[in-house]
Amino acid sequence: LAPHDLTGQKILITLGPTREHFDKVRFWSNPSSGKMGWSLAMAAWLRHARVTVVHGPVNLTFPPGVDTIGVNTAREMFDACMDLWPDMDMGCCTAAVADFSPVPHGRGKLKKDECPEGLCVTFTRNPDILKTMGEHKRPDQRLIGFAAEAEVDLQTTAKAKLTAKNLDLIAANRIDSDETGFARWNNSVLLLDSQGQSEHMLNRPKIDIAWRIWDWM
Ligand code: PMT
Repeated sequence: LAPHDLTGQKILITLGPTREHFDKVRFWSNPSSGKMGWSLAMAAWLRHARVTVVHGPVNLTFPPGVDTIGVNTAREMFDACMDLWPDMDMGCCTAAVADFSPVPHGRGKLKKDECPEGLCVTFTRNPDILKTMGEHKRPDQRLIGFAAEAEVDLQTTAKAKLTAKNLDLIAANRIDSDETGFARWNNSVLLLDSQGQSEHMLNRPKIDIAWRIWDWM
């Protein structure tokens, strides 16, 4: 039987990718499936939290008790989260938000004949949702971030992001494994909190990792 230890807690979870359109049919995105965020939402909901999910384009279903807001772009996700965050007790950002957006060509479809010599696209920076939530975090709010890393010292990078984004807990995962990370049902994470305590969870179901993260909180 699930414990009811999150009863009444209002929790905002971001999940999935964002899509940054260049023209009507082309966009910049990434392989996030939303499974990590879905697992966190389900675990929190089973523990009687009031869960609100802001998600990019994903192919997932949620029980009627979970509020969902679908968005496409990083800017839309940012706006939805900024509206919701003041009313939340906890935030958990698992979304793989595009850091950059292409300057759009227009509303139509770019024809290849328009660029016989090739195509140069300029990208602009998107707002950092988690960092902005961290900047506006009240003492009674708790904030969890993720870090997706390849070929770096996970501990050092996780600690830097924990501090820079004013987080209470960070889950750092490598994205260069075939078995875990993007789009898999398993993940390997390093959990690190603001007190310096840490725990490694290697190649475990995302639902187990989600359950453990709420234990930590
Ligand atoms: O969705 P799945 O297929 O299950 O895959 C899970 C996952 C690999 C996407 C997930 O476990 C994960 O690592 N999510 C974070 C991906 C990411 O964008 O990491 P980052 O290191 O670039 O960003 C750090 C943190 O800032 C993240 O919490 C991210 O949500 C947040 N962020 C980043 C950029 C931005 N513009 N706004 C943000 O809120």
